[in-house]
Amino acid sequence: MGEGGRGLGKGDMDSAAFRTFAQGAIAAAVVAWGAALVAAGEQAPPPAASVFTGKQAAAGKAAYAKHCASCHIPDLSGNSEIPALAGPAFKEMWGARSTKELFDYMSAAMPYGAPSLTVAEYTAIVGYVLQVNGAVAGEEEFTPSTAVPIGTVAKSASASASPGR
Ligand code: HEC
Repeated sequence: MGEGGRGLGKGDMDSAAFRTFAQGAIAAAVVAWGAALVAAGEQAPPPAASVFTGKQAAAGKAAYAKHCASCHIPDLSGNSEIPALAGPAFKEMWGARSTKELFDYMSAAMPYGAPSLTVAEYTAIVGYVLQVNGAVAGEEEFTPSTAVPIGTVAKSASASASPGR
C-alpha cells in the first residue's frame, strides 16, 4: 500500500511550479468559499412563509412535553418503536404532505390510542413540531384548516434539525 497517488507531475519539469500555482488557487477558492459560508450564516435566510405564532409554538412545546414526550422522547427523536417527529425521518414522511394532514393525523390518533387534547393544543403542537423542524414563527396563527406543504415551511427538516443524542 501507499504506492499510488504520487504520480502527479512525474517527469514534468514544470510540475512543481504548477503545483504551487494550483495550491494557491485552491487555497484562494477555499477562502472565498469559507467567506461565503460565513456571510450566509450571518444573515438570516429569507423568511419562509410562516403559518404559526411564537406563542403557539411555546404552548405547543409545553403540551408536547406533557402529552407526547413520554413516547416520542423530549427532543422529538423517537426510538426504534416510535417515529421521530424531527429530522430526516420526519421530513421524508411529512415533507410533501400538508400541515393540515399533520394536524388531522395528530388530532385523530395522538396521544397514541387516546386522542384527547383540545383543538388549541393540537394546533399549538403542530406549530412547535414545525418550529423544531426549522420553520419560523410569525404573525399568522395556525388553524385546523391551515394547509401548506410541510417541506415549504420546515426548511431545515432535511438535516440540521436532527436531534441526535
Ligand atoms: C403512548 C405512546 C405515544 C404517545 C404518548 C404519543 N405518540 Fe405519537 N406515535 C406513537 C406511535 C406508536 C406512533 C406510530 C403509529 C403508527 O405507525 O401507526 C406514533 C406516530 C405519531 C406521528 C406520525 C409520525 C410518522 O412519521 O409516522 C405523529 C405526527 C405523532 N405520533 C404525534 C404525536 C403527538 C403530537 C403526540 C402528543 C399529543 C403523540 N404523538 C403522543 C406513540 C405515541
